[in-house]
Amino acid sequence: MLRRSHVIGLSVLAAAAAILAAFFAFPTVFERPRVMVSGIADVGGPFTLTAHTGERVSDNAFRGQFMLVAFGFTHCPDVCPAELQVMTAALESMGQAADRVQPLFITIDPERDTAARLADYMAHFHPRLIGLTGSADEVANVADAYRVWYEKVQEDGSADYAMDHTSIMYLMGPDGEFVQHFSFGTSADTLAKALRTAVKS
Ligand code: NI
Repeated sequence: MLRRSHVIGLSVLAAAAAILAAFFAFPTVFERPRVMVSGIADVGGPFTLTAHTGERVSDNAFRGQFMLVAFGFTHCPDVCPAELQVMTAALESMGQAADRVQPLFITIDPERDTAARLADYMAHFHPRLIGLTGSADEVANVADAYRVWYEKVQEDGSADYAMDHTSIMYLMGPDGEFVQHFSFGTSADTLAKALRTAVKS
């Protein structure tokens, strides 16, 4: 006959096994929504979009360079401009090392963010920053590939709308593979340091 402590020990083991089994059966339940864990390798993917210059551009155009990718929309009151300012300041502080990094801003509001609108907006930030837009489907696909969530929010008593969206910057390597992400609030210094390290390796 099993002693009581053994029975307790066994039930703890059984519970642990059940949790482990559940983890493998339903891994998504254990993922924290909208929070990236560094080392996630399956962020990113191919895209073809329209640059603010009007040209069609695919991700292949940037192979051999690092891509620093931010998603947002030009009507964003604070988060997007702050993020693009950090991006700009970081790249400006890096000297020639910045040449290995191609900054990209992909709109999640293609309805309002035409190439022309993006061109005006890009003028406020780094001279090499490329704004990208596309059809609703093209934008949905690239956002999905980068695990970026967005949603239109209608403003009360107005025809205007805002967009809620994930604000994470992604660094992709010269092969197009995910290298690392930067959450909103990362300083220009921290970003520059990480970019220097990445381009040196
Ligand atoms: Ni924004």
